[in-house]
Formats: sequence, C-alpha cells, structure tokens
Amino acid sequence: MTPKKKSIKVVRKTRELRQQVARWRGRRETIALVPTMGALHEGHLKLVAEARKKAKRTIVSIFVNPRQFAPHEDFDRYPRDEEADLAKLAKAGVDLVWSPAAAEMYPAGFATRIEVEGAARELETDFRPHFFGGVATVCCKLFSQVAPDVALFGEKDYQQLCVIRQMVRDLDLPLTIKGVATVREKDGLALSSRNAYLSEEERKIAPALYAALGKLAADVNAGGSITMLQAEASMGLLAAGFSKVDYVEVREAETLAPYDPAAKRKGRVLAAAWLGRTRLIDNRAL
Ligand code: PAF
Repeated sequence: MTPKKKSIKVVRKTRELRQQVARWRGRRETIALVPTMGALHEGHLKLVAEARKKAKRTIVSIFVNPRQFAPHEDFDRYPRDEEADLAKLAKAGVDLVWSPAAAEMYPAGFATRIEVEGAARELETDFRPHFFGGVATVCCKLFSQVAPDVALFGEKDYQQLCVIRQMVRDLDLPLTIKGVATVREKDGLALSSRNAYLSEEERKIAPALYAALGKLAADVNAGGSITMLQAEASMGLLAAGFSKVDYVEVREAETLAPYDPAAKRKGRVLAAAWLGRTRLIDNRAL
C-alpha cells in the first residue's frame, strides 16, 4: 500500500483566513507567520521549524508579490511549484497555508503603498528602487490579515529584515519580528529560490560570494581602510567569475548606516553580484 500523503489546509480568501484565525484566538492559541514567495527550500523549512517553537499555530503565506518586482525583473520566470511546496509544508507540520491570488491581495482600486526610509536607503534600493515599498506593503497586509504574534524572516535578506523591523517599530504593529540565520550549502552558498537559475558553471563560482564576505569581514576586523577593502572585495568577485558587482559594503548591523569602526557597534557586510542573468545577494556579521 502506498503511504497516504499528508494533506494541508490551504486558504485563498481573506474572509476564510480571518474566520480560522478567530477560532484559534478564541481558544487563546498563539500564531506564528512565515511569509514566503514559495519555491520552498531548507531555508524556509528552518523558518517553519523556528515558528513552531514560538507559537501553537504556524501559518505560511505563499504569494509571489508582483509589487516588489520591476517590469524588467524575473516576476514571470520566478520559480513556482505549489504542489511541491504544499507537500513540504504538510510534512513540516504547518497548520495553514495562506495562498491568495493577486486579485485577492490587490483588488481593483487598490492604491496604497508604504514608503520606507532609514534602513531601506541605498544597498538594494540603489539597484531595485521599487523593492522595499512593495515588500513593506505586502508584509503590512499579511500582518493585518493573519494578525500573528510573531513573524519570522531569514537573515539571508538582511536589509529586508532590518526594514521590516523598522516598519513594525515605527507603525506600532502588534507583533514581534524574529530573524533566523541563513541556511547554506556545504560550500557556503546561501540557499535561495533563485539558485535554481544558475548553470552548472555558475553554480561552481557562486560560493565565492560568501567567501569574499568572510575575507572582507576579517580584513575590516584587522583594521584596514573600509573603502579600499570594499573595492578589493568587489574586484575579487569579478576575478572569481562574477559578471557584475552591484555592491559590497560594510554597514552598521542595525541601522545599515555606513560602518564606523571607532563607534564599536556591531557591523554587517553585505553584497549583491551577478552571475550571468542571476543576481545573488548575501551577508554576514562582522
Ligand atoms: O523574502 C521574501 O520571500 C519576500 O520578500 C516576502 C518577505 C515574502 C514578501 O513578499
């Protein structure tokens, strides 16, 4: 006999989501939310495992958010495989999957956008100016729809995590944000849904990104000029086979302001670089 597949509750309408959440709330059950765009990998499953430790109920949202992609970006080719995602989430013990259609999230006449500054300045914004407004808007909606006690985000998208924390603080949103350490392949490459785009050759070069961040962190800690070391790291990536480097930067870990070693605050090194048509980002603590 073939083992029966575990089924999972998938909700596509806000009304139904709210009814289920209200039933759980009525029983004083706590709720954790893991927002995703699907194409789930071990990194997402680690977020789910952490979520299950934090609350009685775990909700995972799957929504490829059109508002955080520019017209020339990869919205159309972004990997989607709902059946595989649902099987993984059922196995991981998720209570509910929130998977609205775009018209449910953004019905006709939708005309609001959250504007984020502070941690959203520079880095990703210099190259994807539309991005954090789209992320903040959808996350604000997800927080309002699900009303979780806690939401979990990967440190892989470190600037995103800082921007979400800032928005929750600034708008007094009643939930806690928890960052979860990046899951990596054995060779250091951070897990990402976009790794699926890499050719065999590009995949071999990709771990050089994390290695470059490690070298930069060590060199900064040893006390070199930050501007020079950033430029050196960038040249190193090109020499390793990356086709273009958007940025390699050392920043304050919380505010993402330029890093000042004299201030003795926590630092973070962050980078974005291209391998052919694929843009990879990564970061690590100083
Ligand atoms: O990190 C992501 O997958 C997305 O930016 C998020 C947070 C789910 C918002 O669409």
